[in-house]
Amino acid sequence: MLNYKKVPLNEYLQTYKARTERTLDHWLPSASTIPTRLHQAMRYSTLDGGKRIRPALVYATGSALGVAYKSLDGPACAVEIIHAYSLIHDDLPAMDNDDLRRGRPTCHKAFDEATAILAGDALQSLAFHIVVHDHQMIRDSEIRLKMIDTLALACGSRGMAGGQAIDLASTGKELTLIELENMHIHKTGALIRASVVLGGLSQPGIDNGVLVRLDHYAKCVGLAFQIQDDILDIESDTETLGKTQGADEAQKKVTYPSLIGSEKAKKMAQELHEQAIESLAGMDKRADQLRWLSEFIIGRRH
Ligand code: IPE
Ligand code: IPE
Ligand code: MG
Ligand code: MG
Ligand code: MG
Repeated sequence: MLNYKKVPLNEYLQTYKARTERTLDHWLPSASTIPTRLHQAMRYSTLDGGKRIRPALVYATGSALGVAYKSLDGPACAVEIIHAYSLIHDDLPAMDNDDLRRGRPTCHKAFDEATAILAGDALQSLAFHIVVHDHQMIRDSEIRLKMIDTLALACGSRGMAGGQAIDLASTGKELTLIELENMHIHKTGALIRASVVLGGLSQPGIDNGVLVRLDHYAKCVGLAFQIQDDILDIESDTETLGKTQGADEAQKKVTYPSLIGSEKAKKMAQELHEQAIESLAGMDKRADQLRWLSEFIIGRRH
């Protein structure tokens, strides 16, 4: 059933990463721009690190539809900036209280809490500024509005922020599998979904049926991504992860492995990967990057 051709995924990932770094550097105010401490914190938490999976999903989706990379740089950068903001706030003492991120002190440790809060706030605004102003993205202003709305919903109270609220409210409690899935779909899945949808919307006149199929792919991949994140918190080590291993257990977070055990959690991630592939049925070989990205996401070690 999972019959797709191998693509040189690492090469693609390298290309996407390089483009992402360049675009981020372009849009982030320089470290010498006043207020310098805030801009330094924004750059610290956004540049030089991270797998850049969400930008890769934007580029891979756009490529599956024949969209040029230069039209995808803006949306890819915007989703990564929202992600960086979410990580800064996720690590704060009031939330997960983590000291290590991407192998370095978290933003509030390297700077201070107030600066970290403001850096997150400012990054969030910057992401929307990019979608409004980028010259190379799709020109149609209605589509841009749709992109802005997609991002806004994905990071708001009915998306990532809502998922984070559920995460905090359920720490130390018992959840059903349905409740846990709901939490993961929001806190992590929503932005992953938005990444794929923004890539899709970058194709002028995209067929709505294709967009729905891509969205379903992304829903599966987004949930599988967080399940793998939960598994790695148990199975990996701090050096490989670049964040403190075992933090979920220490903080009594409800995770897939804690609820159903690691083996079942892995099986579930595999099933979601299979569903993701099925959602792409009918898309030609240009979508093989997306197929491989899904496989990469459940097999990654950090
Ligand atoms: C970590 O995301 C936070 C989650 C949503 C699980 P990533 O694993 O994509 O983090 P980076 O960007 O590679 O550091
Ligand atoms: C974070 O989930 C999700 C968001 C940042 C929105 P986690 O709390 O599991 O992420 P890590 O493990 O700290 O990267
Ligand atoms: Mg968290
Ligand atoms: Mg965390
Ligand atoms: Mg985690």
